[in-house]
Parts: sequence; C-alpha cells; structure tokens
Amino acid sequence: MDGLVCFEIRGDVAVITMNNPPVNALTTGVPQGVAEAVERACNDAAVRAIVVIGGGRTFAAGADINEFVRYAAGQGPWPVFHRWLNGIEDATKPVVMAIHGQAFGAGLELAMAGHYRVIATDAQVGQPEVKIGLIPGAAGTVRLPRLAGVRKAAEMCAFGEPLSAKSALDAGIVDRVVDGDLLESALAFARTASGPRRTRDLPITPDPTAIAELRTRCKKHLEAPLAAIEAIEKASALSFEDGCRAEAEIFRRLMQSDQCKSLIYAFFAERAVAKVPGIDKDTPIFPIREAGVIGAGTMGGGIAMALANAGLRVRLKDTEQAAVDRGLAAIRKNYERSVKSGRTTAEAVTERMSRITPQVNYAGFDSVDIIIEAVFESLTLKKQVFSEIDTIAKPDCILASNTSTLDLDEIAAVTTRPHMVIGTHFFSPANVMRLLEIVRGRETAKPVIATAMALAKSIKKVGVVVGNGFGFVGNRLVIPYMNEAQFLVEEGATPEQVDRVLTEFGMAMGPFAVADLSGLDVFWRIRQEKPRVPGARETLGLPKLYELGRYGQKTGAGWFHYGDDRKAKPDPEVVELVHRIACESGIAQRNITDAEILDRCIFALVNEGAKVLEECVASRAVDIDVIYLTGYGFPAHRGGPMFYADTVGLPHVLARVREFGWTPAALLEQLKPFHS
Ligand code: NAI
Repeated sequence: MDGLVCFEIRGDVAVITMNNPPVNALTTGVPQGVAEAVERACNDAAVRAIVVIGGGRTFAAGADINEFVRYAAGQGPWPVFHRWLNGIEDATKPVVMAIHGQAFGAGLELAMAGHYRVIATDAQVGQPEVKIGLIPGAAGTVRLPRLAGVRKAAEMCAFGEPLSAKSALDAGIVDRVVDGDLLESALAFARTASGPRRTRDLPITPDPTAIAELRTRCKKHLEAPLAAIEAIEKASALSFEDGCRAEAEIFRRLMQSDQCKSLIYAFFAERAVAKVPGIDKDTPIFPIREAGVIGAGTMGGGIAMALANAGLRVRLKDTEQAAVDRGLAAIRKNYERSVKSGRTTAEAVTERMSRITPQVNYAGFDSVDIIIEAVFESLTLKKQVFSEIDTIAKPDCILASNTSTLDLDEIAAVTTRPHMVIGTHFFSPANVMRLLEIVRGRETAKPVIATAMALAKSIKKVGVVVGNGFGFVGNRLVIPYMNEAQFLVEEGATPEQVDRVLTEFGMAMGPFAVADLSGLDVFWRIRQEKPRVPGARETLGLPKLYELGRYGQKTGAGWFHYGDDRKAKPDPEVVELVHRIACESGIAQRNITDAEILDRCIFALVNEGAKVLEECVASRAVDIDVIYLTGYGFPAHRGGPMFYADTVGLPHVLARVREFGWTPAALLEQLKPFHS
C-alpha cells in the first residue's frame, strides 16, 4: 500500500486514512488504496468493522480534475473508479465513512460506496461536478437517489449546491451527525453497526413529477444540469449496473463538450493569472496592515469596505465633513443590508465599521502602508492629490490610483517615487465585485506589483496585472462591444433584441441594461475623454439620450424605461428616435439576425482583445478571459472572449471580422490560437 492511504488497527476496527494533502483529491491511487485496505481488513479475522476517514482538514474534496483533462486530451487513461468503489461496497464487514470538512464530487461517491456514514456537524456533502460542466462520474447519479430519493439527488447533481451535515442527515445521505472527536464517534458507531448495508441494493422509486419540475428550473443554455437530471431519471428506471453505464455514457459526452472544456479552463484560469510573468514567487512583499483611502464616494466607500472586511484598518478621507458623512452613511446602509439578508452579523458589522476612520485631513496618513486614491476622474485633480500624498506618506508606502482611464505614468510622474505608484482598478460595487485590475506603470517596482497581488488575494479579489493604456483591458474592450451594440440598433435592431441575444449567450446582463445601470452620463463622459480615431464611426444614440437627460436607471429612463419596480421595459420611443437619426445620417434600416448581433458584439471584444495582446497591455489571453469572467459577467461556460474565439475557430472569427469591414488585429490574422 502506498503513502496515499494509511492502515492501522484500533482494537477490533481497522482505520483507513486517506493521505493526499491538501484536500485528499481522489487521484487514481486513492480509491484503489482504500479498496485494497478494505480487502486487507476483510481478510483479517481480528477486524470486525472498518472506518474510512480523511487525513488533514477534509474527507475528500473531489476527483483530480487534471486527470480528466489529460484523459479528454487523449493523454492519459480514463480514471476508473467504479471497480474500486464496488470493491469497497462488496466488503463483508461494515464499512463506516467518517466525514469531516467536505465530501464533494468523487469524495461523496466514495462515501456512498461505504455502508454507513457519520459526519461532523460542520461538514458538508455535495455533487458540484455541474459547475465544471460535468455530472458525477463514479456512480453518484446512481447511488445518491437510492439514499436521498430522486428529487433531492437530482437537485444536488443539477445545481451543485452543497448540503450541511444536518440537511444530509434529513435527506438520508448520512446516518449520524456527531459532535466532538469524529474518529472516536466513528469507531463507536462501527463497533455497534450491524452487517454491511449496500447502497446499490436500496430500492429506488422513479419520480417523474420531480424530474419535470427540476428540468424547468435548469438554465436552458447549460448542458450539464439537464444531463444530470437525465442520468438520474435513467438510474431510477434501470438496474444499478445499467444506471452506471448510462451515467458513464453521459459523462463522456459532456467531457468532450465545449461547455465542459470552457468551464474547466475558467476554473484553472484564476490560478493561472495569479502567476504573473516576470514576478517570481520570491519577490518581496510589503506588509499591508493599514490603508488610507482618498475620496469617500461610490468607489472609495466600497474600497474601504473591502479592506475593512479583510481586517485592515482604513483611514477614509474626503474634502469636507458632509462628503465623509455621506460616504460613511452609504457604507453603514450597505452593511445593514447584508445583516438583513443574513450574509453577515450585526457584531461583525460593528467591528468592521470600527476599523474605518473617517476624516477630512491627512492625519495618520504618514503611517499607512498603502494609499488608494478614488477622487473624481480628473487628471489635474489626481496629480494634485498624488503630489500631496507623496510628501506625507512614508517611503515604503504604496501609492495607488483607482482611475479607470487616466494615464498612470503621468500621475506617477508628479511624485518622487514612481516605482511605488500602481493602479488598483476596482469594479463597482467595489465591496462585491471580485475583479481587481492591477495596473503596472512604466516604473512600478516588482515588489509593489507582488504586494498588490497579495493584497487582492487577502481581500478576496482576483488580481489581474495589466499594462497602462486607455481603459486598461476591461474598459478598453468594452468600448467597441458597447459601440457595436448601438450600431446594431442604428441599423434596425432593438435594444431588447440585442440584450436578449447576449443574455441567451450567457452574459449576466445585456449591454443596454449595463449602460442603463452604470449611467449613460458615465459612458458619455468616457466618450468625451477617449482619444478620437480619425474616420472611426461614432454612435448616434448615446449623445441624443444624454442630451434628453435619459441617464438610465437613475433617471427612470435610458435605453429602456423603468417603473417603480426598476425593471427594464422596452421603450418604442427610443427605438424610433435612434432609427430616425440613423436614417437622417444615411444608415439603411434592415432586419438584423440574432447571429449577426452575437458575432458583432462578441468578436468586437475578441478583435480588441487581440490588439491589447499585441500592445502588451495584457500579457496573456487568460488575463483577458479572467477580467471578463470576473468583472463583466462573461459566461464561464464560454471560457472568456479569447477562449471562446479559439473554441469557434480563429479562421471563422477572422472571416467575420473582415465581413463586418473592421480592421483585423495582426495577431488575429496570424490565426495562431490564443491558448496553445
Ligand atoms: P464619486 O464622485 O462617487 O466620488 C469621488 C469622491 O472624491 C467624492 O466624494 C469627492 O468629494 C471626493 N474628492 C474629490 N476631491 C478630493 C480630494 N482632493 N480629497 C479627497 N476627496 C476628494 O466618484 P467614484 O465613482 O467613486 O469614482 C472615483 C474614481 O474611481 C474615479 O477615478 C473613477 O473613474 C474610478 N472608478 C469609478 C467606477 C464607478 O463605477 N463609479 C468604477 C471604477 C473606477
């Protein structure tokens, strides 16, 4: 037996411990090791029962996804679990699975191959495979409905949400919830357990009503949830063996699907961006314990919350008391909402609020470790603020700007320490959105970049390092995307058609709903600042709506109309207005297909993304993908704009880009996949 699994005998019970840190992922050797240890225990006359437990912090968090990936790429054997799990279930002595931490995915499938399960009060069980576009592949869809019933099993496999220990007990997945020492409780349980009780022998009752109901709850554009329900429906009508065969067939089908490949890519992509080219892991990191935030507006308030939530002390400065009071009131209101919704407790909020010191001067800014500036988007103002803080801050204090468009190098140039200046571009609402674009200036020092990445992680954000260029990466790409959406309306589409096509593709919101939420005034201002490209087509609708005071949700009308419920309603007046001004400008009106809408909007992102790569504003396609996945509601099952382009094929993307009359990025013309 190898080191992945340990075997010992405690009195008359064999204890088998999985030992594959950090989370006991079930790499091929682990289930095999457990099965062999179970066999050994069965052959030992001194043993009356068996306990299987996870070493370290968890039972088993799932299979090793890399093994599936290698298999799907034809580089490795299919990880066969059934044989080992069946071997465990066949044991002639009672096998008790002792669960702490998590029994997720293959971890739960292993646990269900045991005869009994005891679980620690704070542990969880679940079948989250659907989140990477798969279904359970080691008889989870066949054993789980035998324990929990078809409805519960289908719900767990289709939506992937975990169950608490108590819910797992209520569902019949585990036999006992135990407080205190898990191993001792499992040993006591094992000593009194009657003979083996095999999950596969339990009866299963089909439940067509539940199946039909759950199908209606699935998002239509996602394959895996419906496939999970299909597998469980089949399992409920077939023998155990045939159910396993049906599951395997569906699993293999999904494994080859674009959705699964995209979701697995998205899963690993966040880890990939954490490794920044040129910044090795020995780069020194400055400790960040206290921060100063300048500007207590929308962003400054959210940034202060994000920092305070992670335990940092924050000095929040604005120009006058009224502004600070407003900012603090907004923070309090925000926190109160999260208490009301049960996301946090009143005590936690009191503690977090106590970490934020509101002020109208720079008192204490000489000792903070980082200063994040979030004043109005004005270069003159930002330069003034940076020259002020440069004289106050301690020498190793990082000076960060939250600018969304301005030139970081120009800001850094007014200081005596451009190497300590960096961009930390948060997304609104800053306490919620996971993305943090970390803008590297011409002179930003490596330890400053490494520190910003570490800070992102500690405040639970996904830091992505980008270069200094108008709009950096996220907003740079969003401009052609939003423009294309508007051009389509000028040519005959409607905002609701465009938004429908993109939400059906999987975007969290359509471009017009986004514009109305962020404010058309904001987009209008960005347009004023953006350097003009001679001869480039300009949108016609935006300035007109801005002129009419239709700023979006905040004024009750923008591209859509908003009633008291703040739900978007189509506004025929807007459509008529835009079509009329388009006609006056000589733009012909025609019927626009959904396919054209999709390709023009998404390939606008791709073409601009390729330019951003060429210019080294983004260093890797994965950085662009993660920015879009975490900051712009791009669907994970498409992998991100650049991964999606590779999926549909660059020759097709290039052909469409030419058809639309755009200038293709040189990198796109090379037709070399962005991820190779
Ligand atoms: P805001 O208008 O809500 O807040 C700006 C605050 O800065 C105001 O409270 C103002 O009184 C204060 N301020 C102005 N001059 C100051 C000074 N000298 N010292 C201290 N405080 C001063 O603006 P918002 O939306 O929070 O934007 C701030 C920055 O964040 C801008 O650079 C903006 O481009 C950027 N940003 C905004 C996003 C958004 O969605 N609102 C998203 C990402 C970045």
